[in-house]
Parts: sequence; structure tokens; C-alpha cells
Amino acid sequence: MTEQSPALDNLLTESRTFPPSDDFAAQANAKAEMYAEADADREAFWAKQAERLTWDTKWTTVLDWTNAPFAKWFVGGKLNVAYNCVDRHVESGHGDQVAIHWVGEPGDTRDITYAELKTEVSKAANALASLGVTAGDVVAIQLQMVPEAIFAMLACARIGALHNVVFGGFSPTALRARVDDAAAKVVITSDGQFRRGKAAPMKANVDEALEGAETVEKVIVVKRTGDKLEGEMPWTDSRDVWWHELVDGQSEEHTPEAFDSEHPLFILYTSGTTGKPKGILHTSGGYLTQTAYTHHNVFDHKAGEDVYWCTADIGWITGHSYIVYGPLANRVTQVVYEGTPNTPHEGRHWEIVQKYKVSLYYTAPTLIRTFMKWGAEIPEKYDLSSLRVLGSVGEPINPEAWIWYRENIGAGTAPVVDTWWQTETGAIMISPLPGVTSAKPGSAQKALPGISAKVVDDQGAEVGPGGGGYLVLDKPWPSMLRGVWGDEERFRDTYWSRFKDQGFYFAGDGAKYDNDGDVWLLGRVDDVMNVSGHRISTTEVESALVSHPTVAEAAVVGATDPTTGQGIVAFVILRGNAVDGGEEAIQALRNHVAKEIGPIAKPRQIMVVPELPKTRSGKIMRRLLRDVAENRQVGDVTTLADSSVMDLISSGLKSGKSEE
Ligand code: WT7
Repeated sequence: MTEQSPALDNLLTESRTFPPSDDFAAQANAKAEMYAEADADREAFWAKQAERLTWDTKWTTVLDWTNAPFAKWFVGGKLNVAYNCVDRHVESGHGDQVAIHWVGEPGDTRDITYAELKTEVSKAANALASLGVTAGDVVAIQLQMVPEAIFAMLACARIGALHNVVFGGFSPTALRARVDDAAAKVVITSDGQFRRGKAAPMKANVDEALEGAETVEKVIVVKRTGDKLEGEMPWTDSRDVWWHELVDGQSEEHTPEAFDSEHPLFILYTSGTTGKPKGILHTSGGYLTQTAYTHHNVFDHKAGEDVYWCTADIGWITGHSYIVYGPLANRVTQVVYEGTPNTPHEGRHWEIVQKYKVSLYYTAPTLIRTFMKWGAEIPEKYDLSSLRVLGSVGEPINPEAWIWYRENIGAGTAPVVDTWWQTETGAIMISPLPGVTSAKPGSAQKALPGISAKVVDDQGAEVGPGGGGYLVLDKPWPSMLRGVWGDEERFRDTYWSRFKDQGFYFAGDGAKYDNDGDVWLLGRVDDVMNVSGHRISTTEVESALVSHPTVAEAAVVGATDPTTGQGIVAFVILRGNAVDGGEEAIQALRNHVAKEIGPIAKPRQIMVVPELPKTRSGKIMRRLLRDVAENRQVGDVTTLADSSVMDLISSGLKSGKSEE
């Protein structure tokens, strides 16, 4: 089945285990008994987790799965998600607790208490309402990590509007596709963003994206870079309004309305195996229940004591679930950092950890490997003794990085939790529990209490210890996606058709059990790449390449990359009339992809080839291209329509490698 990487063998010979200390285990939120409790009565278990939230009307049925694969959780229940993340903490006497220690890239800071958060979210909710935004409307948000991004998301939740957050690094073309598909009525952005010390435009890109967009009535602009912004900022009087002019004068009072547990909360687009991103739909009660439950148990979060920091961007699901919803529902005090990890120096994260005494830190393997590259002497200069749990997400973490993380950031004692989940799952699904599990470097280990995952073979039968296959989720879970926006068929096809007879959700990942039955993730089995923990489909990049006038055909593969997990390598056939594929032409193509999709999709390498390896039915054999991209001997070519093609490719290679 999956084309196994050589890394797999190394992974599975990893045999070290790290049990939690007695002290940690004794104080941990999650205890070993939870697994049995959940197994004994799953629905009762989830009902108990849902009770951690404040409901306006209690549900009558925990789970309705009669219309599978469309789940309903906490049926009949009503709640307001923003109330749960903000107001109730003020009402319980914690208005003065800091919710957000915000740190701007240039060094400016802002501490926001729960009382202030309530005021800001209420004003923003009134502002959106004043523009005619009502429950069920869609608000697109393209903002960097500024507090207003969080205010805006919670304001939407408060009035029952769906947010559609688009990562700040996405191009105008990508933004436009997401605005159109979701029929967004309002777009929220900023004038510009500070990135590596420079003020780069945001609004100008949004304007380019919205040219002729039919659904957008208003654009709200947060002032962040002001007169530091280079170049002119375009402005349309009839459409555009400054955030501060619109929001500041609004009433600080806003009564949150209770919405149905299944009321849509947000849409978030993610890459699939086709060129068109999918709008993943999440709803309210189940999503908030599971994000709060996992944040509480996986990170062992203690409200009012811990200082938490998730380094993700709100443009991704991790930012939604583990900066905004789960943590705030749990009354977190958290750091939100605007900038890049090496601005103005490579110790920036550790300086922030030291300053705010961060105790729970959640990041991605690609960043851990970058820290390794920068050297252990950098974190060594800071007092990191406050850290007590370290999290990882986004791709398999190699044991070497796992150990480095524990040793150099966690003082050799902090439990590392490797959390497997997806945009579609909404919340963490497979992870160690830090006070329970004997951690194994490189393994996400076990489905959390209340969650059921299996590794199965082609026929859907569970494989035995030591066996490999496909990762499936065989029982519905509260924060599961409720559909693909506007495309029921795609929802069924993508996730529910591979193991239709069994009714399994197919995650798209390969996985393996070790002899203890722990799960080891092996990466995607479809044409989805994972670059720095971000999903990009090969087809998406191929479409971008062939949209360039010089390209006749393109094939893209994800090649193993020591820092980013996978790097994008493209093979292109140029058109007959195109000038030779020299260095400049290749750079132009790389830039073209960045412009079409965003800089994260810029190929690491582009090779100009005379032919592409195809099967007789015309399917590109990416496996062979991956061999070339990873400098391996090319594998079995017997299914190629033209067996000489690989020789042609190897002999005629012109390669343009990036210097970045
Ligand atoms: C894909 C989901 C979940 C938030 C960030 C990415 C890969 C994610 C792990 C992990 C191995 C992982 C999978 C998954 N992935 N976490 N701990 N170990 N692989 O969300 O963009 O929806 O991507 O990321 O391949 O399917 P996403």
C-alpha cells in the first residue's frame, strides 16, 4: 500500500520510553481510568465532557448518528460559544485574569484580561450586527496574529455568523476562491503586517482579491502598520471601513443569543487531492466540547495557574481549536505572538517563555528541527524552568527531534505529547496523556479516551501488532466535520467511500501498530503533501504551474526534507515555443506558484524534463519522480507506458534549486 519511507525503519527500531514522573502523574488532570470509563459508555463519557461547558438549554440526546455520515451531537442543546469562551469567566469572578499576553513582532505588547476581552468581543459583535451581519452569514478574515483576529472570530461566534479565516500568507487568488465559495458578506483584514521587521501590505492584496467579488459588501480594516507601511493603501469609500472607527464607538453591552448545538461555527478551507480547496464545516456544541476536553487533558491545563502558548497561526485549524476555542473555554492565560521565531533574534521564543513563565508550549516538528539547526546554545541562555508540558502537531515527529525537544526545551523532564489530528477532526484524536502514558519518541500512541481509531488493511480489516495500513476512525466523535461546504458528494467521496461498507472515516494517513498496539503515523497515502505541517495538494501546485504560459505539463511530488518534513519538487515540460528552461525561467515559475497560491506553496526545486513517467492509463507515476527528487535509484518501471522515459528524464535534467 503506502510507499514506505526509509525513515519508517528507524522509527520502529526506536524503543526508548519515558514514563511520567510520580509527581506529574499525581497532579495530572487525566487519569488512566478515563479509558475504561469511556469504553464502558462512550455517550455518557462525552455528556460528562459537555457538562464542562455552560448550556442555555440542555441536550436531550447525546449523539444522533442515524443520518450517517452527518452526525448530530448534543441534540436539542443550545449554547453560545463566545459566552463559554469569555463571559462566563467574568461572571465567575475572573474578569481580572489575563486571557491574552499579546506580543507584537516589533516588541510592543498588550495584556488583555477576560473583562477586556468581553468588552472587545461585545463591541465587535455590535459592529458586525450594525453592518447587517446576522446568524448564518459568512465573514472572511485574513489577518495576521493580532488580538483583533481573535475578537473578530469570537464576535462572529457570538452572533451566530460563520467565520472563514484565510491564512495571511495566501495569495489574492487563493483568498478570492475562499471568499467566493463561501459567499462571504464581509471581509476583515489589516492595512499591513510586520514580518521580519518589515511592514508588508495586507489590504492591497485583499483589494486585488476582491476585484469584482459579488458577495462582499464591506471590508473592515484593522490599523496595524499605519504610516510604516511601504506604498499606497488602496481604499474604496463605499465599501471600506476602519476597524477602530467602526468598533470603538459601539456599545460594550451585547447579549449573547443561544444557538443550537449544531449551529455552524466556521468554515475552514483545506487542501484535498484536487486543485480546489475544501471548505470544512464545523458546528458548535460538539466542537467546543472536544476542543476544551482535549486542551484540558492533553496539555494538563490548570486554569489560573498555567501560562499556555500555541505557536500556530489562526489561519490554520490549530489556531482555531488550540488558541481560540479550546483554551478560552478552559479559561486559559496564553501568549499570542505576532511574528516569526527569529525576529529580531533566534532566541525570541525562549525570551518570551522566560518573560511570561510559559508552562505549556505547543508547536510543530518543523520548528523544532529549525531550533535544532540554530543550536542548543540558544535556548540554553534562557530560563525555561517554567515549562512542564511540550506539544507537537502537524506531521510525524522524528525521534531525534522529539528527544532534542524534551532534553533542550523541557529540561529532560517535561512530557512531550505528539498529537495527531486534522482540520476535519476539529480536535486532537490520537495522543499520549502526559500523566498516564509512557511516551515513545515518534509515536502518537493511542486514541484518546472517547475516541476510536484503527489501522486497517485494504479490505478494512484491522491489522495485527506490527502491521501497517490505513488509519481510520471507526466511531463518530463530537468535533468531527459536518460536511464540505456546498458539496455533499465530495464529503461522502473523500472521507466515507474508501471504507463504505464498514462506515469508517478514512483520514488519508498511513499508520502502523507496534507490538504494544501503539500507533505510528507514516504520512499521507494520497497526493497531499505536508510542508512545514501545512497541507498542500500536488494537484493544486500542478494547476498553478500549468497556468503559466511557458508550461505544457507539470507533475509535483513531496520529497523528504530535513527541515520542512516534505519539500515541493516539480517536474515541468515546457511548451515548444518557450525559451529554454534556464535559471531565470525557473525562478519565474517558482514565483508564479507563490503568486497563485502563496509563498508556502513555492516549489523548493523545479526540474525541466522532456517527458513525464505515465502508466498506460495516463496516470503520472509520482513514486518514480519521488525517487528522482530524493536522489534514489529509480524503482520498478515495468508499469510505465514507455519504459525509456526515466532514462530521458535522468539524462536531460535541468534543475533549479532555491537558495532559500
Ligand atoms: C494532516 C492534517 C492537526 C493540525 C495541523 C495539521 C498530518 C498532523 C500529525 C502528527 C503525524 C500528523 C497528518 C494529517 N499530521 N498531526 N502528530 N503525526 N502526522 O492539520 O492541515 O488538517 O493536516 O497532518 O497527515 O492527516 P491539517
